[in-house]
Amino acid sequence: MRIFIAGGAGYVGSPLIYRLLASGHDVTVFDRLNFGAEALVPLLGQKKFKLIQGDVRDVDAVSRHIQGHDAVCLLAAIVGEPACNRDPALAIETNLVGARNVLNASLAARIERFVFVSTCSNYGVVDGDHLVDELAELQPISTYAETKVQFEREVLQMKQDHFHPTVLRLSTAFGISPRMRFDLMVSDFALAAVKQRKIVVFGEQFWRPFVHVADIAAAIELSMGAPTSVVSRQVFNIGDNKNNLQKLDLAKMVLKYVEGAVLETVTRNTDPRSYRVDFTKAKERLGFSAQWSVEDGVREVVDALKTGVWQSPSDPRYYN
Ligand SMILES: NC(=O)c1ccc[n+]([C@@H]2O[C@H](COP(=O)([O-])OP(=O)(O)OC[C@H]3O[C@@H](n4cnc5c(N)ncnc54)[C@H](O)[C@@H]3O)[C@@H](O)[C@H]2O)c1
Repeated sequence: MRIFIAGGAGYVGSPLIYRLLASGHDVTVFDRLNFGAEALVPLLGQKKFKLIQGDVRDVDAVSRHIQGHDAVCLLAAIVGEPACNRDPALAIETNLVGARNVLNASLAARIERFVFVSTCSNYGVVDGDHLVDELAELQPISTYAETKVQFEREVLQMKQDHFHPTVLRLSTAFGISPRMRFDLMVSDFALAAVKQRKIVVFGEQFWRPFVHVADIAAAIELSMGAPTSVVSRQVFNIGDNKNNLQKLDLAKMVLKYVEGAVLETVTRNTDPRSYRVDFTKAKERLGFSAQWSVEDGVREVVDALKTGVWQSPSDPRYYN
């Protein structure tokens, strides 16, 4: 397949690009390179790989470069609540206007497969401990999630016969990526424990689902290759029922691997998101199952931090 990945140089995108190339696909990455493209440097020069610095808000550039592909995956976004709150206008222009450009250009180029990468943050605050599936009501509580919910609706409403859009609602990602992020909960807790010997947990009872970046890459590849009867106009939560954790349990898990680190809990409601998610649909219909447990991911990042893999993990380039 010839695959166009908008936003492929980022945390989730870069491991995906390595996987798709290893599977033999032709891959074009179209990315504004907000965090540079170092993550993809080892791929430069490969015949099946093309890197374009481009902005999804630029209709002409998107339309020109998207031609000739069989599948599109849209990852490009201003990602996370803090980044969207810093510049809500940019978030809306990127996550909605830019996303529409990619969608319209895909339709005009008669590209059949379109995978939109969305988020389980769309579930917002779910009362109680029950699991929510893809049919649950969406309750976005941030500009970030609002843009994702809105664009999901627009993609799924597209009714052209030849067009097969799929929405993947990812759990919070963890794991080591060539473009590392230390603002995500697993790596954030691991870094705090290793460097400060202390994890401060806000909202320790809140539930969150987690998924490793390698498993996300597998899920995206699976959904692009699955029969259209399985994926067309479908939404899938991506994660594993076993990887739903309360923040306190995650913090305790990290402490197991960092001797002498302590825990502090703080009552504060700045991020009241809490949701426990059901991933049965992706397992039954897509045949997706996560290979990584959260505990394996904790061990992976704690070991790497102790080894000194990143010289300055607190550097702003690792934060969105
Ligand atoms: N990381 C997570 O936990 C998580 C969870 C759920 C969903 N997602 C979704 O996965 C996708 C990727 O997230 P990530 O964690 O890799 O974030 P990231 O910030 O590392 O990657 C986003 C990429 O998009 C690019 N980009 C931003 N604006 C652009 C523009 N105008 N034109 C072209 N490219 C642009 C950036 O340069 C970056 O390479 C996002 O759509 C995000 O909503 C991520």
